[in-house]
Amino acid sequence: MSQSYNRGLIEDFSRWREFEAGMWAWIFHKFTGWVLIGYLFTHIAVLSTAIPASGAETAVLQAGNDVYTQTIVSLEGLLLVRILEVGLLAVAVFHMLNGARLLLVDLGVGLESQDKSFYASLILTGAITVASVPTFIAGAF
Ligand code: HEM
Repeated sequence: MSQSYNRGLIEDFSRWREFEAGMWAWIFHKFTGWVLIGYLFTHIAVLSTAIPASGAETAVLQAGNDVYTQTIVSLEGLLLVRILEVGLLAVAVFHMLNGARLLLVDLGVGLESQDKSFYASLILTGAITVASVPTFIAGAF
């Protein structure tokens, strides 16, 4: 005979203190997945506004005065954009690592060590993100 019990309200956000590794992995995976979708559309919108560059004269392109080059150069000139790029890398790396981990778990690999593999994804994401900072910040100042 099946038993039921009161799980409490999922809308009760104060319950985050009770979350275990699996719940955080679920939240972070959702968050990073939807951030990547948001970035994808922003990326397409920004670059498509620079499309007139394709019609520019060769001399204009060679001088780097076309709309596309100017758009990229001005964006990369903003420290905020460099910082957001580091954040995007962190989001993408976590989603990839945790996604690969989830696919393995779906295949029954590492079922007993899900917490450990989640923490490993977090640590690896942190290490790769920190290692990327010099590359993203180079020339920003
Ligand atoms: C190597 C690259 C990637 C891997 C291994 C991966 C893996 C996964 C997996 C396994 C899920 C399902 C998680 C579950 O069982 O609930 C998922 C969900 C999702 N992924 Fe990815 N993914 C990758 C790249 C991307 C990219 C590039 C985007 C966006 C442009 C993206 C957006 C999403 C979204 C929106 C979800 C659904 C989140 C939700 O539960 O609401 N993923 N991903």
